[in-house]
Amino acid sequence: HARPPATFIALHGTHSSLLLECPPHEAPLWRYWGPRLPDSAAAPALRATRALPSFMLDFDQPLTVLPSFGVGWFGQSALLAHRNGQDFAQAITACEIEWLTPGQSLVLHLNDAVAQLRIDLRLSLDPASDVLTLQTGITNLGAGALDVQWLAAATLPLPGQATQVRSYAGQHNHEFMLQTDTLSRSLWRRENRRGRTSHDCFPGAVVTTPGSTEHSGLVFGAHLAWSGNHQQSIEWLHDGQYQWQLGEWLAPGEGLLQPGEHLLTPEVVASCSMQGLNGLAANFHRELRARLNWPGGTMRPRPVHLNTWEAFYFDLEPTDVMALASAAAEVGIERFVLDDGWFQGRHNDRAGLGDWWTDTGKFPDGLAPLASHVNALGMEFGLWVEPEMVNPDSDLFRAHPDWALQIAGRALITGRHQLVLNIAHPPAADYLFEKLSALLHSLPIRYLKWDHNRDLTTAALAGGVGTAGYRVQVLAVYALLARLREAHPGVEIESCSGGGGRIDFAMLRHTHRVWGSDCIDALSRVDIQRGFGQFFPPEILGSHIGTAPAHTTGRSQSLAFRAAVAMTGHLGVELDVRLLSATMREQLGAWIGRYKAWREQIHHGQVWRGEGADSLVWQAHGDPEANNILLFVFRTAPSSHRYTPPLQLPMLDARARYRVQQLVAMDGDGALQSPAPFFSELLASGVDMDGAWLAQTGLPMPRATAETCFIVRLQRIEP
Ligand code: GLA
Repeated sequence: HARPPATFIALHGTHSSLLLECPPHEAPLWRYWGPRLPDSAAAPALRATRALPSFMLDFDQPLTVLPSFGVGWFGQSALLAHRNGQDFAQAITACEIEWLTPGQSLVLHLNDAVAQLRIDLRLSLDPASDVLTLQTGITNLGAGALDVQWLAAATLPLPGQATQVRSYAGQHNHEFMLQTDTLSRSLWRRENRRGRTSHDCFPGAVVTTPGSTEHSGLVFGAHLAWSGNHQQSIEWLHDGQYQWQLGEWLAPGEGLLQPGEHLLTPEVVASCSMQGLNGLAANFHRELRARLNWPGGTMRPRPVHLNTWEAFYFDLEPTDVMALASAAAEVGIERFVLDDGWFQGRHNDRAGLGDWWTDTGKFPDGLAPLASHVNALGMEFGLWVEPEMVNPDSDLFRAHPDWALQIAGRALITGRHQLVLNIAHPPAADYLFEKLSALLHSLPIRYLKWDHNRDLTTAALAGGVGTAGYRVQVLAVYALLARLREAHPGVEIESCSGGGGRIDFAMLRHTHRVWGSDCIDALSRVDIQRGFGQFFPPEILGSHIGTAPAHTTGRSQSLAFRAAVAMTGHLGVELDVRLLSATMREQLGAWIGRYKAWREQIHHGQVWRGEGADSLVWQAHGDPEANNILLFVFRTAPSSHRYTPPLQLPMLDARARYRVQQLVAMDGDGALQSPAPFFSELLASGVDMDGAWLAQTGLPMPRATAETCFIVRLQRIEP
């Protein structure tokens, strides 16, 4: 081929690089995404290295940044679109490169002169986090409407040695259930059409290579920052590598673009690491921390919550609520959050959503006396809302039945007895803004728990339009949140969705905490929080100390275990503190005190997770150099060994020595740690140990009853 030579685009992070090859008149070819290459890295032009196989097209078509159907690509297409049946096949005819930040961030302007459309693909590699951000826009340059059925937000290459994909399934009360699939020549695909991020299908996954572990080896991860419908697929390609596409799942008609119109996909954040799952998690945590938009610019120490839900459910009675606030303040609570049940007509989950003013039957003087009481006790006041929803039994629905998402001629389908408001309808959004603003103006509310407790169905835009409204609904909630935050910049917001049904990087542009799960059984939470931690840092994870037995599982655990599990996130208490014995209240206060002493460490720096033998699951928090580590080892089941094997801590520096100290005795409240001299010393004064020994052989593990936590500090003493 007498074609002009290709140019290359390289982006380099600290530990990763990507390389694109840009032959003229086509979309750039994906050449590499993986561990850091030298700055000077170059490759021979791809086609020059590949002889044509038999019975193939005469022009070789490798994976590009926009593989597209109909002009020689036979794999999954990054774009599926047509214009009234025409222009169903797309191919890029020109590519213009626009650098935003040289070497770090660029936009590829890709034109298809035949199908008359333009694709703008933004790619940035952040050298600090090694996180690659990709986002794709499409513009209809033709005369007729272009129906876009699928547009990948990103297409990523994965090397042939990719073997397994770790994604997350789940349901209410059981989020982040790890699902491991083996990649093969069959297509791997996950989809979600519930109209929210979902409990069932987290929009992202991790791909591992042989020999990779939590601590080492090459792994890849990607996440679609989007709170609505989504899909992702990984497909084997004939050159032995894989392509990974992630994007929004568009309902029919949602991608219909009139001439000149534009559609922008959500962002994909992706990263690879040679440090295994923990290295990858550290990259995502760094990236999310840089994106979080805190009131005042920086994160304050995460205040201990008391949430009223499991203490009272809907039965709010002012004297009781105030008494709980007083008891909460005594154990060290810093933020008192009044959950569901406070607003007009809300006596159970069948009525009230939409009527966002105080139920004066329950609170004859409104919420001001309670909020003042809470403030006088030195706590912040927070309030639960579920703005996107409406109960048919509400003044709002009676006044505006047409504001609910619905399809003319079809029954209204309720979920938890509620419907979803069409908040893309400006009067509905204005109503919510005004109602919420009025609350935020009239009460000293520093915190909103923003819930969303059902999936979307019959999500058509009302008012005669009748077209699918999933996508605009998500954009409208972002807009409403942004508008409220602008008007009330001091307020923090938690994203809740029947527990963890709306946890993603896009929601976290507007919010500051997520409610990980309605299940606060500490044993269940060990698993849930572990999955969560692959993408999200601990300081944004709402995690509460509940009662024993746990309301959602009926299982009972010691206060120590419940507290240890909960304090590895953003700690809260969700029980009626008044009902605890004086001793238990004192112990709860002591655990809250420990959280306050340790939260700076837990909420900054790096997290390492792993599994030991004999049912041990651990998590450690510390600086990336591992100078000072706070280690939590959870025993999730009774020991099945006469001697529990020591726990290897691979993140420690093999050349250093550490002072190791057990911070809390494990005895009491049903828990038992069997005595041994090493552990007496560990608890009393600490023991000095070699990093190499701790990494290779391991830290001796106590013999203890199940559902206990061994908490240890490891501090570098030399060199
Ligand atoms: C959802 C939340 C709970 C609680 C209830 C209130 O289920 O996840 O924490 O706020 O709603 O109805």
